Formats: sequence, structure tokens, C-alpha cells
Amino acid sequence: MQTTIADLAAMKSRGEPIAMLTAYDAPSAMISERAGAQALLVGDSLGMVVYGLPTTLAVTLDMMVAHAAAVVRSSERPLIVADLPFLTYFDEATAIASAGRLFAEAGVGAVKLEGGGDMIRIVARLTSLGMPVMGHLGYTPQSTHQIGLKVQARGETQATQLMEDALALQAAGAFAVVLELVPAALAAAVTRALSIPTIGIGAGTGCDGQIQVWHDVVGLYPTSPRHATRFGEAATSMEATVRRYVDSVRSGAFPNCGPVGTKPKPVKSGADY
Ligand code: KIV
Repeated sequence: MQTTIADLAAMKSRGEPIAMLTAYDAPSAMISERAGAQALLVGDSLGMVVYGLPTTLAVTLDMMVAHAAAVVRSSERPLIVADLPFLTYFDEATAIASAGRLFAEAGVGAVKLEGGGDMIRIVARLTSLGMPVMGHLGYTPQSTHQIGLKVQARGETQATQLMEDALALQAAGAFAVVLELVPAALAAAVTRALSIPTIGIGAGTGCDGQIQVWHDVVGLYPTSPRHATRFGEAATSMEATVRRYVDSVRSGAFPNCGPVGTKPKPVKSGADY
């Protein structure tokens, strides 16, 4: 059965941590589902980690719809949340049209948007139309040129503002809030103040769940942000694998060398992957 926003709320009530990570395509979705993730975010971080862009700002709604659809097609149990990209939710009509595409064309279960303040009424409008919304406070990558890639809300005024925004998002109907690069004590205080789950990234241990970027978790790049923890060395293992193939071709051993790894099941159609 697919995880619902009610399931995530119940996990918060039980004090059961929510494990979330990003997914951008069929393999990351299938592997994360098999590994037991409760929710997957098709993050606009795909701009950097999939497309090699410097920021999330050039990510388009078409890109998000295509990647979100791939993740939805490739998983059954996790709740799929997709980011609304930069400038696709600056007013209510635009937000409704953008979010509508992610629900109707890609089949996601929820959307995420960045910021408090003016964004609260957008969240209220989307949720009033039956579209579940996840908030995102603290470091909001779509505003990177304005706020800088650093821990946010260190001062008292900004911390009070973040708390107010979190409460306003909840009142507007958001079902969860991502807290990115927020001091741990503030993230824990927000988590206690809210009845909806907080999902932290670089926000300490006091959140109801954690989210990390797929490429950081599996170790696909030589560098990762400071708050990321690498749980594997996928790039090293993939490079060794590809090297075996290249060497086998160049030595003439392949294709007559017989099975090298475990024997894969034969593919009959794309859906068999
Ligand atoms: O786009 C993304 O991957 C995100 C997470 C880092 C929360 O917004």
C-alpha cells in the first residue's frame, strides 16, 4: 500500500523517524523503494546532480514532470513528492497550473514549494484544491543568490520568523515542512511546536525525519555538501565495473568470455527493468 500523508503524520505521533531521499529516475526510485524509504522527493536538485547545472534555477516544469513521471512509474509504496521549480508558483493561478501538471501528468502524491511569507496563501490555495503541499524553510536553494549557501536563521529575529512561517504553513494546510540548514536547536523547537512532521537536511537530529540527496547517499560524486553523509561508494564500484567491461572488450575477451557477474533476468520490455 502506498504511504499517505496521514501515514507520515501517524509516524510523527508514534515518534517513528521518517526516511526520505531524493529520486530522479527509474533506478533511484526502484532501489529506494526496495530499501524501505517512506517518501521520495523528485527534487529540483536534479538540476545540479543530474544535469550538471550550477543551481536549481534553470530547472523547468517540463523537466520536473518527466522525471516525476519516471519515479511514479517505477515505485508503488513511497509517497512521491515533486518540487515546483523556480518561478512556477509566483501567483495562485501559475501555482495551480504548475502543480496541476505534476499531479495530473506525472501522478505525484504531493508537491513541495520553498518559502514562507507570500507563499503561505499559495499553499492555502493549493491545499484547498486537494493538492497536498510540503513546505521548505531555512536554506531555500531557489533563493540562493539572495540568501547564500549557509546555515539560515542563526539570529533571534530570523529564528522567530522561521518559527512563524512554519506555524503559518501548517495553518495553511501543509502536510510537512523541510527544514534545510537550520540550527539544530531551532529545528527541534519547530518540530515540537508543529503537529505536522518536519523533515531535516543539515538541521540536526531533532526533526521527525531526514532527507538526503540520492547522489550523496550512494556516493556518486567525489564531493558532497558538508551536511551530507555518504553511505556507499557507488561511483567507485561503478567505475571498477565499467573498467572490467572496457578492458574485456579491448582484450578481445568479450563477448565470448561467458557470464561475468550474476546472471540477470532477461528483459522482455522496458517495464521489466
Ligand atoms: O531539491 C532537493 O533535493 C531538495 C532537498 C534537498 C530537500 O529540495
